[in-house]
Amino acid sequence: MISIKSAREIEIMRRSGKITAKVLGDLMRAAKPGMTTRDLDRLAESGIRAMGGEPTFKGYHGYPCSICASVNDEVVHGIPGDYTLQDGDLLSIDIGTTFEGYVSDSAVTIAIGEAGENAKRLMRVTQECLMAGIEQMRKGNRLGDIGSAVQKHAEACGYGVVRELVGHGVGTKMHEEPQVPNYGRAGAGLELRAGLVLAVEPMITEGHYAVETLKDGWTVVTADGKLAAHFEHTIAVTDEGPKILTLRDIGEHPDVAKYRPKEEMAA
Ligand code: MF3
Ligand code: CO
Repeated sequence: MISIKSAREIEIMRRSGKITAKVLGDLMRAAKPGMTTRDLDRLAESGIRAMGGEPTFKGYHGYPCSICASVNDEVVHGIPGDYTLQDGDLLSIDIGTTFEGYVSDSAVTIAIGEAGENAKRLMRVTQECLMAGIEQMRKGNRLGDIGSAVQKHAEACGYGVVRELVGHGVGTKMHEEPQVPNYGRAGAGLELRAGLVLAVEPMITEGHYAVETLKDGWTVVTADGKLAAHFEHTIAVTDEGPKILTLRDIGEHPDVAKYRPKEEMAA
């Protein structure tokens, strides 16, 4: 079943998204060589709870942490732990908050210290892929328009689009229908309506798109060991176009200005 959210529900999701965005921005500022991914996870959990939210990931199908921290060839779902971040690492941070019963979900890939030119280009293009997908989130368009836009940009740049993991509807649960693939055919699939809220999350690879899951049962890596990047926002389809509910104050693409939701007067 596909759930259509009321204006009131979208407003709660925006407040949930504000927590996710604030904490993710703080993690981007904090992540430095010498820190462990567990240090970042602790910061995330305390930050979310301090703002009145709950870390959505913690306990989800037994997942032990509040963020996913995926380094270099890890695509998504890396479990925070003893790994010490090093200068030049690519780090993908994925975070979710539940606030007043509503989930928001967002991810970025950042460089620790200074990354190489290849890594920088992969990150830039992956963020552009997310923006291309968001631009399609207009009523009357179709789900396939999102995936097609993401795939076109990634492949035009010579990159792979991960097939085995997809974006998703989001609301009172983290994963709602529909699935939102990062590939597809323009004009195909579900028609988008105002009130649909989706997590769009391109996972883009430097090499082949094939992935494998490690023995920990979570960590997804590229099969060829090459780099991957992941950007994600929670976005509402509205009568006024796409509205990003997880906008940060750091590291956003300049085009996000046109997708900024109107803030309500009172909390
Ligand atoms: N952002 C991820 C997703 O959309 C988060 C899931 S990680 C989990 O699927 F640990 F919570 F499973
Ligand atoms: Co997600």
